[in-house]
Amino acid sequence: MKIVVIGGTGFIGSKLVKKLREHGQEVAAASPSSGVNTLTGEGLADALKSASIVVDVTNSPSWEDAAVLKFFETSTRNLLDYEAAAGVGHHVALSVVGTERLLESGFFRAKLVQENLIKASSNSYSIIRATQFFEFVKNIADFSTEGNKVRLPPALFQPMAADDVASAIGRIAMSSPVNDTVEIGGPEQFRLDELIRRYLATRKDPREVISDPHARYFGIEVSDRTLLPNDHARLGETRFEDWLSHAMKQLPKTDLQPA
Ligand SMILES: NC(=O)c1ccc[n+]([C@@H]2O[C@H](COP(=O)([O-])OP(=O)(O)OC[C@H]3O[C@@H](n4cnc5c(N)ncnc54)[C@H](OP(=O)(O)O)[C@@H]3O)[C@@H](O)[C@H]2O)c1
Repeated sequence: MKIVVIGGTGFIGSKLVKKLREHGQEVAAASPSSGVNTLTGEGLADALKSASIVVDVTNSPSWEDAAVLKFFETSTRNLLDYEAAAGVGHHVALSVVGTERLLESGFFRAKLVQENLIKASSNSYSIIRATQFFEFVKNIADFSTEGNKVRLPPALFQPMAADDVASAIGRIAMSSPVNDTVEIGGPEQFRLDELIRRYLATRKDPREVISDPHARYFGIEVSDRTLLPNDHARLGETRFEDWLSHAMKQLPKTDLQPA
């Protein structure tokens, strides 16, 4: 049974490819660097020959509104068409928890278009919505930084380790299509401002986190529960503190300050 991971060279994709291979699966990692481009269709027909499952963990190189919309809309249409022609039995796509509540952002409008194209197609599918990755926490801090201050709302969120994201995708991809959306999240809830404060303090990062209910998350107004997964979400095992202490051991001492 051949599995094609589109975006298999990316952050999540490379973890997923490794895990599936460790479980003895036949996996092809596809991306522009291996001659497969979902935007243009280049290399897709060959890549999907005799594939049973296709996992889409791509991301747009640009998050500018028009570019990101074009990326997810065109790529998803191409993928679904080429998969139907090749007789692929399961289309799996990674999306983000809360997408429909985050539509102030062009990125999430594009992710919703991606999800809706999949749902409207005749392909069998599983859409996986994940919460923020632990590895993404630094990006949240950096995006919300002005000078030495990081302004963030005290919204609840339930981030998860990228390794747990990849494991969950692998399990769902190897199961029958759910023809629905599955949410996945971390094992614990935090306040966004508190977790970023704790993360920066551990990294000896001098930035000060200001709690502000009106501060925006990537330019989006969020309320207490905007970022939380639903009650049926499947939860990863890795706790933030365990991930952080492991991540700190990997850092050279010189990198304790913000990169
Ligand atoms: N960050 C979070 O906290 C979070 C949370 C939930 C869900 N997600 C979702 O996770 C997904 C994957 O994110 P990531 O961080 O793993 O992405 P990433 O590291 O940026 O990897 C993107 C992948 O997409 C490939 N790609 C780019 N353009 C392509 C094209 N035209 N055709 C085919 N492949 C193309 C890249 O290939 P090359 O290496 O060849 O360029 C790369 O393999 C995203 O859709 C995101 O929405 C993220």
